[in-house]
Amino acid sequence: MPVVVPSKRPFPPCGPTISRRSALAGGVVFATSVLVGSGIRAAVPVPKDLTVKAGVGSWALVGPAGPLTDVWFYGGRIPGPELRVQQGQPVRIRVHNDLPEETTVHWHGIRLPHAMDGVPGLTQTPIKPGETFTYEFAPPDAGTFWYHPHADSLRQLGRGMAGAFIVEETDPVAVDRELVWMLADWRLTREAQIAPDFGSMMDAAMAGRIGNTVTINGAISNEIQVKAGERVRLRLINSALARMMALRFDGHRPVVVALDGQPCEPHVTERLLLGPAMRADLIIDMQGEPGHRYRVIDDFYPNLPYWLTELVYEASPAERRQRLDPPTALPRNPLPEPNLASAEHHELKLQGGMMSGAGMMGGGMMGMGQNGASWAINGMSMTGDGHAGMTPMVTLKLGRSHVFTIRNESRWWHPMHLHGHSFRVLTRNRSPVPHHAWADTVLIAPEETMEIAFVADNPGDWMLHCHVADHQFSGMMTVLRVA
Ligand code: C2O
Ligand code: CU
Repeated sequence: MPVVVPSKRPFPPCGPTISRRSALAGGVVFATSVLVGSGIRAAVPVPKDLTVKAGVGSWALVGPAGPLTDVWFYGGRIPGPELRVQQGQPVRIRVHNDLPEETTVHWHGIRLPHAMDGVPGLTQTPIKPGETFTYEFAPPDAGTFWYHPHADSLRQLGRGMAGAFIVEETDPVAVDRELVWMLADWRLTREAQIAPDFGSMMDAAMAGRIGNTVTINGAISNEIQVKAGERVRLRLINSALARMMALRFDGHRPVVVALDGQPCEPHVTERLLLGPAMRADLIIDMQGEPGHRYRVIDDFYPNLPYWLTELVYEASPAERRQRLDPPTALPRNPLPEPNLASAEHHELKLQGGMMSGAGMMGGGMMGMGQNGASWAINGMSMTGDGHAGMTPMVTLKLGRSHVFTIRNESRWWHPMHLHGHSFRVLTRNRSPVPHHAWADTVLIAPEETMEIAFVADNPGDWMLHCHVADHQFSGMMTVLRVA
């Protein structure tokens, strides 16, 4: 449960440092990290040392009254320990594997050197049971990221292995309080155990393994306490295997300030779409009535709306009388802006899955139907989590701008994730996408076409795949080479 820190000061009420106050007074603050090459700082400070253990245990997902659930996790908890580092500062993370099988860790969304990306075969040898691997990188971008396995990830992520990875801005953003919600979705049996039916053909060819229990930070949530008048930064991470979410905050007007960790133009959202692996940073002014309750609703699936939690206001009246100014933009990250005039163009067709009504797979694609493949990109199915010898679909010239047109030819939603880069989201069905949005995972609706663009500035073989784990596993994956 989050703790409400009482604040007796007028806004800015919780500025323990001068820099926070001056950050507020000065409006937009710019990050000062100077990056050289692929995210290596000129003067290298001592890395921050962290340790994460992957292991097996149990956790009270359904609450203290219910039975414990057998899980796999990081650091003996669900979600795994929240890792917090400073923008541009080196970090060294020792991952020890106490699982009964191999694993790797992927630092989702962080632009890091290829050897640290955690893809088995492609970027590293998997970590065997009893062994340790040390990841070292300096995250160039501040923002909300997360970490999860990239080996047997359908099961490992589905059994609970995921944690938040927060890269803090050099100057703290002016808010009263920060919350991180790791959202997860579980398919539980009556005994509150994780249903063992991973990788079924039905899940693979349709919407993926959607569960029946949604948790916030490792437990079903009935309420989150808030205080009238406070300004909260809420970092949302959808760590589900397959569940898309569309979040509405009754009685509130959340302002989106970042998507997938990358700052965007601040804008109010009525209904926030969050596919698997996607993140959003919201600034929420707690404008409700003291003593009242307000629901947070997920109504992505029209016939299955439910409430995720309730914001419960303390009875005491607001300490802050006047309205705050609208939130300003977060400091920009050092992302290279793609040059659209000189960009190379590429096309990706997302194919396969169960056809609605027809009851069969989209046929005719090379490799589909073999090795349980249900999906393909441009007619090719790469299955699993990554392995040695994956042939890149295309080689992107290092340093060049590239535009990808992604056509979803299927009847299903796909959150498409690119490793090693963040991309501009340019258009959706030819209409410009507003708010100067960047992403590392873009949610593409059935039969929709999207255009994304990025500078291929990070050399290596990078995965591009759907983050619905069943879709990735059964073919919706490819590799882009940057060289
Ligand atoms: Cu978060 Cu290749 O994945
Ligand atoms: Cu998909």
